Amino acid sequence: MKTLLEIRSSMQSAQGQSSRLADQFVAKWRAAHPGGRVIVRDLATAPVPHLDADRFGAFIAKPDERTAGQIATVGCSDALVAELKSADVVVLAVPLYNFGIPSTLKAYFDHIARAGVTFRYTDKGPVGLLTGKQAVVFATRGGRYAGTALDSQTPYLRAFLGFVGITDVEFVYAEGLAISEAAREAALAGARSRIDELLSPQLRAA
Ligand SMILES: Cc1cc2nc3c(=O)[nH]c(=O)nc-3n(C[C@H](O)[C@H](O)[C@H](O)COP(=O)(O)O)c2cc1C
Repeated sequence: MKTLLEIRSSMQSAQGQSSRLADQFVAKWRAAHPGGRVIVRDLATAPVPHLDADRFGAFIAKPDERTAGQIATVGCSDALVAELKSADVVVLAVPLYNFGIPSTLKAYFDHIARAGVTFRYTDKGPVGLLTGKQAVVFATRGGRYAGTALDSQTPYLRAFLGFVGITDVEFVYAEGLAISEAAREAALAGARSRIDELLSPQLRAA
């Protein structure tokens, strides 16, 4: 049984354009994978705390020396990591906010990047431990930035996901959503047809 984890990061929760596109992908994925399991992690309704010195201290403390508070803090991170590890497919709904990813998603990433847990250091550099997964990113933007130096999200997300071992990453863009009604409709229609392509039997078999 395959598991899909959908991570929403729009402040509008399920109403965000990125979440709606991700939901459309998930609905079609469900139809193609009867019996598949879907987990939705909504960072607007259930935000992860920002990383601070205490939280990071808990992560790096030796397991047998952790205080009760540190055990609880690490438990929150461990649960997020276990959820991510359980997923075969990770769907990320990512709006562009002020030239970056939503801070809620950054806080989530800060909880799942754990040395010895999701990556490890070796003589040849860091090695990601979350291998064998596919990721699809639904990137929604008011303007148009894909393929330009102003698109900070694509290289960052590729680098971060690759760092933890997720190297099979597809981006589906819906850009120019604030330009005009026509531009928005065209962008969303383009993203929807990309969903159909990604879930076509030929591509899935490849
Ligand atoms: C706080 C905020 C900041 C934004 N910053 C940008 C930006 O830097 N560049 C851009 O093209 N669009 C920007 N937008 C527009 C969003 O990227 C666009 O509305 C997108 O559809 C939001 O996705 P969502 O509906 O899933 O939340 C911003 C929107 C908000 C609310």
